[in-house]
Amino acid sequence: MSAPRPLGPDPGARRLARPDREDPFAPFLDLVAAHLRARAKREGARIADEIDGVTAARPRRSARSRAPATAFLDSALALSAPATADLVGAVASLRGQLDWMRPDASETGWEVAGRVAWAEIVGPRAPVPSDRFRLGLHLQAPRTHYPSHLHAADELYLTLAGEAWWARGGTWSGTPDKAGSLRLHAPCEPHATETRPKPMLALYAWWGPGASPGLEAYRTL
Ligand SMILES: [Fe+2]
Repeated sequence: MSAPRPLGPDPGARRLARPDREDPFAPFLDLVAAHLRARAKREGARIADEIDGVTAARPRRSARSRAPATAFLDSALALSAPATADLVGAVASLRGQLDWMRPDASETGWEVAGRVAWAEIVGPRAPVPSDRFRLGLHLQAPRTHYPSHLHAADELYLTLAGEAWWARGGTWSGTPDKAGSLRLHAPCEPHATETRPKPMLALYAWWGPGASPGLEAYRTL
């Protein structure tokens, strides 16, 4: 496999002709880029530049959910707060387009696999193709402990609705991340997350060499 190109606008990419109302993901991705530029100056600008460079979504069949945790999507969307209300509204309008997956039960155990769901929107196998970065949604049911894990990619989380506590290297946050909270994980930095009474809906992004297929080095600890 050739080495991934460095981050930054891809001169060969066609800038998505936004607003392209034929592409249901375009309005959502424009909003994501604006939030990341405003909230995460350096990392956010890099990811926003990548978003600007993606092509339109592939033509595709209707979406399918393979994740029981999507039963909690409505209750998470209902926890919308002003900081991210526009993004949450965009997720609600996309819900018929999202392919929700559950974690690999051999990594997390069956209980967690039934209470966490993720939907990749940009990535190697996502509706919007990219071999340079991944971006999607993470949904976690209430009272769920997602175990400590690590991976080779740089990672960003932006909480969209609900709340969750996070651990970095075994040290838990004293207060939960809420709508608008931003979190960065360095490559191979162990991290975990736990919901209590409320579900959590968050945006995630992966970038760097570890975001490339086959180089993820994902490991549950
Ligand atoms: Fe992670």
